[in-house]
Amino acid sequence: MSEPMKTLLAPDRNPSLEKYLARGGYASYQELFKKSPKEVVDMVSTSGLRGRGGAGFPTGRKWSFIPEKSQRPKYVVCNADEGEPGTFKDREILEGNPHLLIEGMVACGYAIGSNQGYIYIRGEFYAGYLRCVEAVKEARAKGYLGQSINGKFAFDIIVHRGAGAYICGEETALLDSLEGERGQPRLKPPFPAVEGLFRGPTVVNNVETFASVPLLLINGLDWYKSFGSPNNYGPKLFAISGNVTKPGVYELPMGISFKDFIYKTAGGLPKGRTLKAVIPGGSSTSLLLPKQIDIPLDYDSIAKAGSSLGSAAIIVIDDSNCMVMTAKILTEFYHHESCGKCTPCREGLSWIEQIYHRLESGQGKASDIPLLLDLCDQIVGNTFCPLADGAVPIIHDTIIHFRSEYEAHIAGKCCEQKH
Ligand SMILES: Cc1cc2nc3c(=O)[nH]c(=O)nc-3n(C[C@H](O)[C@H](O)[C@H](O)COP(=O)(O)O)c2cc1C
Ligand code: SF4
Repeated sequence: MSEPMKTLLAPDRNPSLEKYLARGGYASYQELFKKSPKEVVDMVSTSGLRGRGGAGFPTGRKWSFIPEKSQRPKYVVCNADEGEPGTFKDREILEGNPHLLIEGMVACGYAIGSNQGYIYIRGEFYAGYLRCVEAVKEARAKGYLGQSINGKFAFDIIVHRGAGAYICGEETALLDSLEGERGQPRLKPPFPAVEGLFRGPTVVNNVETFASVPLLLINGLDWYKSFGSPNNYGPKLFAISGNVTKPGVYELPMGISFKDFIYKTAGGLPKGRTLKAVIPGGSSTSLLLPKQIDIPLDYDSIAKAGSSLGSAAIIVIDDSNCMVMTAKILTEFYHHESCGKCTPCREGLSWIEQIYHRLESGQGKASDIPLLLDLCDQIVGNTFCPLADGAVPIIHDTIIHFRSEYEAHIAGKCCEQKH
C-alpha cells in the first residue's frame, strides 16, 4: 500500500507565509525565471500533467493554445468553485496551502504572458476565501506577487467569491459570472484560450492543477514522472466519502490500487457492511461495481472500467443504502443546479425528479422505469453544456444494476435494504 504524501497538502491547516517559506515555499521562482516562457510550457507538457478539474485535459497543451501576441490582456483564472457532490479536495489547498496555488498561478502567468490572475472561489468556501485573500496580501507584501517579482515579471491576483452555483464551475459560466453577468455557459468555440475573460485569451485551470506546477518546477520531470504511469503521472489528491471509516482527502501517487485505497488507506467499510457500488470521480461519473475496483486508481484504468476519474471524488456506497433514494437525492441536486438555459436539462431533470418523488411515496408505476431510461436518452448529448449529461449516469446505472430496488418501490415498499 502506498503511504499518503504531503506535497500538495500542507502538514497543518495554518497556512502562514513564514511556515510556507520554512518548507521551501516560493523556491520554484528560481527555476521558473531561469527558463523562457516556452520552456515552462514545454516542461508542463512533457510532465503529462492533466487538469485536475474533471476532464483531465493536458495542462501544457492548454497553455500552448494561448497566442503569443494578443491585442487584449491575457488572463490566468483559477477555478475554485468546487461544487460537485463528493468533491472536497481543492478546499484543502485553498484553506491549508494557498501560497502553493499562488506560486502555480504565477508560473502560468509567466508561461503564457499574462499579468493578471483571478481566483474564482465558491461562495460557501468562506474560510478558503479569507485565507486566499490573506495569502495574496502576504505574497504582495514580500514581493512574491506585484509589479516586480524577482525583478523580472509583474503579476497580481484578485480573489473573487461566487454566489454558490454549481454551474459556475463550468469554465465559461465562471467567466460570465466573473464579468458580473448571470453565470451561464457560453457557446464554444471560441474557447477561453482564444476569447475568454473580458474577451482576452484565458487559461482556466483547477486549483490542484496550478498547485502541481511549483512541485514540478522544484523537483523536476524525473521526480514527477516517478509517480504513476504514462498518461497518468504525478501526486494526486483523492477525496473519499460515504461508507468508509476514515473519509477525507488523501494525497497519493497516481496508480495505487483502488481496492487498497478503500479497504486499507480509508479504513474500509463500517463493520458488518458489504460494498454495493462506488462512484469513482464525483457524482457525475458512472458507478463501478465491487468486482470492478481491483484496478489502479488512475485516469486510464477507470476509463477502461467504464467510468471516469473526474474530480477524483470517490463515494463509497454500502448495503445500507437504497439506490433509488441515492439517485433521487443526486437528481434533486442537478435539477436545482440547472441554469435553465436549455430545455432538455431544465424540463427533463424536473420531470425525472417528479418521477423519483412518486417512487419515494409509493405512487410509482411500472412504466416509470422505461420512462426514466427514455428521458436519460433524450438528455445525453442534447444539452448546451455537460451539467445535464452528468446527471444521467446515477439514474441509468442504478436502473441497470439495481432494477429490483426500483421494482420494490413500485410494489409499494422501499427496497429491502438493512438500515
Ligand atoms: C457543471 C460543471 C461544473 C464544473 N465544476 C468545476 C469545478 O468546480 N472546478 C473545476 O476545476 N472544474 C470544474 N468543471 C470543469 C471546468 O469546466 C474546466 O474544465 C476546468 O476548470 C479546467 O481545469 P483543468 O484543466 O485544470 O481541469 C466543471 C464543469 C462542469 C460542466
Ligand atoms: S445543460 Fe443545464 S446547466 Fe447546462 S446550459 Fe443547459 S440548462 Fe444550463
